[in-house]
Amino acid sequence: MRVLIAGCGYVGTELGLRLGAEGHEVWGLRRDPSVLPEPIRPLAADLLDPHLAERLPEVDQVVYAAAANVSSAEGYRAIYVRGVENLLAALTRSAGTGIERFLFVSSTAVYGDSGGDWVDERTPPAPENFRGSEVLDGEHTTLESPIPATVLRLGGIYGPGRTRLIEMVRQGRARCPGEGPIWSNRIHRDDAAGALQHLLTLPALEPVYLGVDDHPTPLCEVYRGVAEMVGAPEPTVDPGLGRDRSNKRCSNRLLRESGFTFAYPSFREGYRALLATEAGEGEAGERQDR
Ligand SMILES: NC(=O)c1ccc[n+]([C@@H]2O[C@H](COP(=O)([O-])OP(=O)(O)OC[C@H]3O[C@@H](n4cnc5c(N)ncnc54)[C@H](OP(=O)(O)O)[C@@H]3O)[C@@H](O)[C@H]2O)c1
Repeated sequence: MRVLIAGCGYVGTELGLRLGAEGHEVWGLRRDPSVLPEPIRPLAADLLDPHLAERLPEVDQVVYAAAANVSSAEGYRAIYVRGVENLLAALTRSAGTGIERFLFVSSTAVYGDSGGDWVDERTPPAPENFRGSEVLDGEHTTLESPIPATVLRLGGIYGPGRTRLIEMVRQGRARCPGEGPIWSNRIHRDDAAGALQHLLTLPALEPVYLGVDDHPTPLCEVYRGVAEMVGAPEPTVDPGLGRDRSNKRCSNRLLRESGFTFAYPSFREGYRALLATEAGEGEAGERQDR
């Protein structure tokens, strides 16, 4: 395969490394690709560049995994709508006929509040803010293009280097929502990359998949579980918290039924692995200090 990863960041780099290890040719497109490891081929480009077509390599698969670095409606629109429109137009002009599939990385933010009920790919999206509505517009743009496209809606991504929750719990800043349960839906970075890798190789795809682990978990249970793992005091409950959070349980059934298995089926396996790596790095550091 020849794969272009557009917006090759946290998830994209892990995907690129996996594909590269399998012998595929991978290009990582971003404005500053100097940080990309081999064998990902760096491609310095801005997704909003009107001359993007001239920069694109010949590929047969594309993964759009760019993320807005400005948290505003305009920032989101730029990346999730105008960036994807620009790339699709550029691909159509340069190599569009050869593109076998285009994967658009979306978000479970496209769903609104379901009062804690289950949602899946058949549930009509009902975004509650620009984070959901702009990404949903990007989904429509992608699915309406002549290039065969599929959307993967990811839950909250965590993994190496993205350990904010662990730090919050350690520092006693994690507070349980008073009205509960408020469900959280997450996915480890390696499973997000693994799911994209899996979708690139399936013979036939559905238009939309949900990418979350096997166990939506009440936020408070995640905080308490991590507190136990790190030996921190049990998080306290804040009665005012949670009222404004959209509350839903996302089902990964379609993705699992397509043959994908999770390395980290719940936050427990994922955070335990992160903490084990951290402990290993700490020990290595101590050995070096001696
Ligand atoms: N984080 C979450 O919890 C979460 C949850 C659900 C869905 N998602 C989605 O998952 C996907 C991957 O997330 P991630 O955390 O891997 O993203 P990320 O690392 O934050 O960002 C991906 C890359 O996009 C590139 N980028 C931004 N603007 C660009 C532009 N104008 N032109 C070219 N490249 C640009 C950035 O590189 P440069 O700055 O070098 O250009 C960055 O490396 C995104 O679509 C995100 O919306 C994330």
